[in-house]
Amino acid sequence: MRFHEEIKDRHCHLRNLVSVDGLNRAILKCIFERADRIRNNKDKYNNLLEGRLIGSIFCEPSTRTRCSFSAAIQRLGGKVIEISGEDSSTKKGESFSDFVKTIECYTDAIIIRNSTAGSLKELKGINVPIINAGDGVGEHPTQALLDIYTIRRERGTVNGLTICLVGDLKHGRTVHSLAKLLALYNVRLRYVSPKNLRIPQEIWKYVEQLGVEQTEHTDLDEVLDKVDIIYMTRMQRERFNTAVEYEGVKGSYVIEPKMLNKAKENVVIMHPLPRLDEISPELDNDPRAAYFRQMKNGMYVRMALLDLIFNQ
Ligand code: NCD
Repeated sequence: MRFHEEIKDRHCHLRNLVSVDGLNRAILKCIFERADRIRNNKDKYNNLLEGRLIGSIFCEPSTRTRCSFSAAIQRLGGKVIEISGEDSSTKKGESFSDFVKTIECYTDAIIIRNSTAGSLKELKGINVPIINAGDGVGEHPTQALLDIYTIRRERGTVNGLTICLVGDLKHGRTVHSLAKLLALYNVRLRYVSPKNLRIPQEIWKYVEQLGVEQTEHTDLDEVLDKVDIIYMTRMQRERFNTAVEYEGVKGSYVIEPKMLNKAKENVVIMHPLPRLDEISPELDNDPRAAYFRQMKNGMYVRMALLDLIFNQ
């Protein structure tokens, strides 16, 4: 029996992942269990994407998302064509839609990162699965999946936790997807940001409708002793209109070892990375620092997601 037949779950279907909207706890559970099974059976999973060729389009910089997708595909026995916006005919003036249509002709699924929020939803007539790897200030659904998978691994469960999202909550696409996805669980959300970088109203309302308790703060100290997870993010310098605006908020929140004396003993510190100065490197060897484990988890979650899309 092929490995994917062993891990088949008939209740789990997913074809595209453009937004976290529409995901539910059953699908998440299925992805996380698959990720665990794949990581615990390293010698058995290497043919799950045999014969598949996947396109990977990155029109904004990326280290982790791009490399972990490529690693995931190749570790599952698939092949990948990688192309960046810089190297593509969009530089000659070709539309984004024609660019994606071209890659569709050659591949069995497409992973896309681009700079315009919502642009993946507008793509028409693409007949292969599409995975959003970050659309400008919009969403980053696979990051949210790996973030929740990390919380589960670090704390055993997501339910009952108080989770604090810190930094540039306006432009940070990871926190947009994460807040929405966390709202499927029994959690409390604490948003900590400068006043001009608050969580967008649209996300607030989405979470509110799902009945999750949320509060906003400008001072991390106000919530530090009450939270189970601290999810740091960087100020998204490339999204600011002026350098002055960025300079005004740069360095607003920095976690240093001594601050953690005030936090819960088992607090988990996460970050989607890249970090600038939000987390002191002195914390890297602290068992509460989960961000490097989080980064590795990303590869297994992306393997599980691809397996789910292709093999059900
Ligand atoms: C994030 C992104 O690109 O949105 N990085 C990532 O994918 N791990 C976070 C960021 O750039 O700040």
